[in-house]
Amino acid sequence: MSADIKDESITVITLSNPPVNALGQTLRRHIIDSLDKAEKDPACQAVLICGSNHIFSAGADIKEFGLPPKAPSLPEVCQRAESFSKPVVALIEGVALGGGLELALAAHYRIAMPASKLGLPEVHLGLIPGGGGTQRMPRLIGISAALDVILSGRHVPASEALSIGLIDRLLDSDKDVLSQGITFAREIIHSGSKVRKTCDETKYQADKPANKAALQQARDSVARSARGLFSPEKIIDAIQATLEKPFAEGMRIERECFIQCLNSPQHKGLTHAFFAEREAAKPPQIHNAQPRDLKQIGIVGGGTMGVGIAISMLDGGFNVVMVERDEQALARGRANIEKVYDMLIAKGRLNGGDKITRMAHLTGATDYSALAQVDLVIEAVFEEIAVKKALFAELDRVCKPGAVLASNTSYLNINQIAAVTSRPGDVIGLHFFSPANIMKLLEIVIGEKTCDEVVATGFALAKRLKKQPVRAGVCDGFIGNRILGVYRTAADYMMEDGASPYQIDQAVRHFGYPMGPYQVSDLAGGDIGWATRKSHAATRDPKRRYVRIADALCERGWFGQKTSHGYYLYNQDKRKGEEDPDVLAIISEERRKAGIKPRTFSEEQILRRYLAAMVNEGANVVQEGIANRPLDVDVVLLSGYGFPRFRGGPMKYADLVGLPKILADINEFAKEEPLFWQPSPLLVSLVEKGADFESLNRSASSAHSPTSKRS
Ligand code: 3HC
Ligand code: NAI
Repeated sequence: MSADIKDESITVITLSNPPVNALGQTLRRHIIDSLDKAEKDPACQAVLICGSNHIFSAGADIKEFGLPPKAPSLPEVCQRAESFSKPVVALIEGVALGGGLELALAAHYRIAMPASKLGLPEVHLGLIPGGGGTQRMPRLIGISAALDVILSGRHVPASEALSIGLIDRLLDSDKDVLSQGITFAREIIHSGSKVRKTCDETKYQADKPANKAALQQARDSVARSARGLFSPEKIIDAIQATLEKPFAEGMRIERECFIQCLNSPQHKGLTHAFFAEREAAKPPQIHNAQPRDLKQIGIVGGGTMGVGIAISMLDGGFNVVMVERDEQALARGRANIEKVYDMLIAKGRLNGGDKITRMAHLTGATDYSALAQVDLVIEAVFEEIAVKKALFAELDRVCKPGAVLASNTSYLNINQIAAVTSRPGDVIGLHFFSPANIMKLLEIVIGEKTCDEVVATGFALAKRLKKQPVRAGVCDGFIGNRILGVYRTAADYMMEDGASPYQIDQAVRHFGYPMGPYQVSDLAGGDIGWATRKSHAATRDPKRRYVRIADALCERGWFGQKTSHGYYLYNQDKRKGEEDPDVLAIISEERRKAGIKPRTFSEEQILRRYLAAMVNEGANVVQEGIANRPLDVDVVLLSGYGFPRFRGGPMKYADLVGLPKILADINEFAKEEPLFWQPSPLLVSLVEKGADFESLNRSASSAHSPTSKRS
């Protein structure tokens, strides 16, 4: 496994467990054995612990969580390093995260390369640091800084780590890493410096009132913003112990809190999200395909989406040509891009120089011939099939052979669009979400003729843009918008049956969403959906129940935030709406017209319907192959639709609740509304087999990767 290099008086222990040197049992055992050997070696005067493959360590092996614990534990490894009788130096290159940083904290000295990142991201997995991080970090950098680092889970850049006292020295990026580590260790030996145990540090306790205030402030902030998360409070409890208890007792409290978190459903949900995101980014379709080289990107349409996509591309370092219908529209698109950059500058997130560089990579045109040399063109023009078809015929004429032709359509049929070109294999859907420069999700919609190389290009592009890609098949709304349509209908039915939009929004927020569906509708603008409903009116199934409430608001010009009135009333503070009695009166009137006698819904009843609708349509989407696996549905809902991450996504949530319970709910709701509540055949068959969605994820993964890690 790892090769230890002995250099004169310094024993080098290399962490080697590709790809990220996770501290699995074998590596933990190796560290202990190496330390034991070095302890007995009279020639050894210091130990240098370093990573391999340009990474120190990403921490505990997440795949081991939930399996029976195997000795030595991470706290034991850290304890062994700290209690070592000779100086131990952690040499950090790349990331030192979670248990990796905890091991470094237990070393007596820490040095890092300038590009290194250090952090305790356990909170993102619903955990607290469990290798002494909550006890050693506050002792090293103080309570306040430790609260910030551990509660945020952020990756601290090495320069900041130096300034807050997390590391002792920043190394030179131009020099060899290992030789700088050895030089440092030699300095320690020659200066006669002794071991320096972080656990013995006491200066952090000096300012007791400030420490107490920092803890209280953290508790208040967590109560305000953590929306039901369990581990942040446990992190604070453990950090508080550093002030009140001796180190050993603090370690015991940390372990207790860690185990509580480990056993929580939130940890299961967050870990599922972690692995699902990575699996979704490498679907079977790209395994044997090489992406095409992309340098020049064309964007057609400089409206809401064209602008966001252009920013995303410019941020990703591409040259962008934007094509609009006329000079005025082009100038507006360009001005809107500048406006976003100016806002970022005002917020201190971008500097003026970066704006100039990025804008220099943008050119504009009103003639499609400007797209002749682009490697990829994405259209974001009006959502009308005739407009898109005419455009793709034109793109087929002007674009060079091998250019990828992509549509940002939200709902339209990629196969029909591809069919107007002479190269349907080059046509793909790249469905960005609004605002496209911020939202992580990118649905990569594969038409029946899209070639694998073009699919691989879409996934490589997503990586370059730091987006979360998910492969989707062709249907009305693909994965996300199709499922959204169904659970929004379930909400509308409940609203007409007696629940207020405010009650529904609140229930959904209490579940963990940042906003409820009617708040989202007000934010996005009711006019878009209204136009779609009107265009579908002639073909709507008359047997299907139709809720007119949204139309009634739109008829009054109440489109949401942009008109200061939607489901909510927006006065001075435009973003936070107030409940509106006039809206409630309109809803009552619509109920009366529909002959509905309103009934009450509890929060639990609202959520059961809302989530059952989501899960059921998610199952349909998987069954039809629109999503590869249930985990792809989870990732779409998590990264594009605000589903609370700690619940892992709707399909994971359904597994945790139990599929029989979800199916029983659907069957019960179907008694009132049989046309809408039709159990998905996939859900029914899983329940019959006593299986769950995770079993489908597992079998899909193992079919494509013999070394799959899902457990
Ligand atoms: N354990 C097991 N596998 C891990 C892992 C970990 N800690 N971290 C990453 N991996 C795996 C990924 O699943 C992926 O596997 P795959 O190739 O089979 O899909 C592979 O390593 C590469 O990961 P990424 O695709 O994420 O690679 P990047 O280069 O984009 O990112 C990273 C690297 C920044 C290290 C990122 O993977 C990351 O953030 N990892 C998680 C770090 C973390 O949360 N550490 C804390 C663990 S909990 C802990 O330490 C508890 C302790 O306190 C007791
Ligand atoms: P928009 O109306 O804001 O912008 C469309 C732009 O395209 C306009 O500036 C128009 O001048 C330009 N345009 C129209 N026809 C053109 C042509 N033939 N050549 C060049 N330019 C042309 O629309 P928006 O919201 O940006 O949507 C664009 C596409 O993105 C649609 O397909 C939509 O479904 C999709 N989409 C929209 C999202 C949203 O939240 N707005 C989210 C995801 C996808």
